[in-house]
Amino acid sequence: MKVVVIGGGSTYTPELIEGFFDIWDKVDSLEIVLMDIDENRLNIVYEFLKRMIHKVKAKIDLKKSTDLDKILPGADFIINQIRVGGNKARLLDETIPLEFNLLGQETTGPGGFANALRTIPVVYNIAKKVENYAPNSYFINFTNPSGIITEMLLNYTKVKAIGLCNVPINFQKFFADLAEVDMKEVFLDYFGLNHLSFVRRIFVRGEDRTSELLEKAKEKASDSEKKIIDYLKMFPNYYLRYYYFREEMVEELKHKPKRAEEVMKVEEDLLKLYQDPNLDTKPMELSKRGGALYSKAAVNLISHLYGLQEGFQIINVRNDGSILDLPQDSVVEIPVYVQKDRFHRYVIGGLPIEVRGLIQAVKVYERLTIEAAMEGSYKKALLALSQHPLISSLSLSEKLLNKLIEVNKGLFPEL
Ligand code: G6P
Ligand code: MN
Ligand code: MN
Repeated sequence: MKVVVIGGGSTYTPELIEGFFDIWDKVDSLEIVLMDIDENRLNIVYEFLKRMIHKVKAKIDLKKSTDLDKILPGADFIINQIRVGGNKARLLDETIPLEFNLLGQETTGPGGFANALRTIPVVYNIAKKVENYAPNSYFINFTNPSGIITEMLLNYTKVKAIGLCNVPINFQKFFADLAEVDMKEVFLDYFGLNHLSFVRRIFVRGEDRTSELLEKAKEKASDSEKKIIDYLKMFPNYYLRYYYFREEMVEELKHKPKRAEEVMKVEEDLLKLYQDPNLDTKPMELSKRGGALYSKAAVNLISHLYGLQEGFQIINVRNDGSILDLPQDSVVEIPVYVQKDRFHRYVIGGLPIEVRGLIQAVKVYERLTIEAAMEGSYKKALLALSQHPLISSLSLSEKLLNKLIEVNKGLFPEL
């Protein structure tokens, strides 16, 4: 098995590699190639991972490269985890919208829009190389906004793209812990879009235990989450507080240190730690990042696609009939039974009226954002922003868009 990790120099990669410690002995051979455009980081992370691998005596052939064209041939799986413009650009996403009294967040609202505009052209170009050099590979995308990037890949390229996020697997663990069972015993009736999703029902060993486990979940929830649970009788994705508590969140974010700055500091510390020749296990400091269990999500999916096991996993795929109230060719985050190349979507049916409008509006925003980036269309960018439920004003969208274009000079496509 050959796995290529694009953005392999990320400080997150030690987390990812741990997942492969569970499967290297179940495949004939395992080659992992880290690819990054930042050679310095790539070298640091590579050397550290080699020590991690040596420590657990895993037979993993680890390689590194800055040249994507060279390493793609023969790849079975490509994991994409790049951040276009780095955390400097993320800082813009988290600050500029706040100047307009709008949410400043890396994936949701105007920040996610700017992130998408920077990222779509870059991932598109990567996908073109994948089409050329590794047409049969699976392209596992973590790059945010993950749902939007996956929808672009599925509608504009031929790569076999699947979008992942660590939220669903963390939910699975959360409810398994509440029910005091193994994660495998829990099935979540889960639907929506990436970072805009809901747990509708919770099954434990096939038994519907929704009301009991929602009550239990409330004991661990914040006040705002409790309110949302009572309002919807569903368990909300963490990112929904940006919608349901919009004003409060904007106010809070204005006065808080920006996450991008925190992350830059954590990354600096991590890179220092990784350079310690005596360090050979993932340091505690990495848990200060939000990526918990992302390796498990990735390696589970790879195991399913490779035929090592089969089962349900919540992933971002083309809707194809699962959700009635969304276009068939839009990407949704739902449970899918993955059996090698066969994908059996769990049928969600109609969206509950409580959340239907919100999900449909955000999906329209996502679609228009992709079209804006792919066509270089100012008009579509404006349509996208003005239909986003967190903005919904043409005049505001215009001012915001002009500012985003100005600060993202050299990173945005020509609009
Ligand atoms: C969660 C989300 C990711 C996001 C991350 C942010 O894991 O699912 O999509 O990138 O949080 O974590 P960070 O440490 O970068 O703030
Ligand atoms: Mn995510
Ligand atoms: Mn991140």
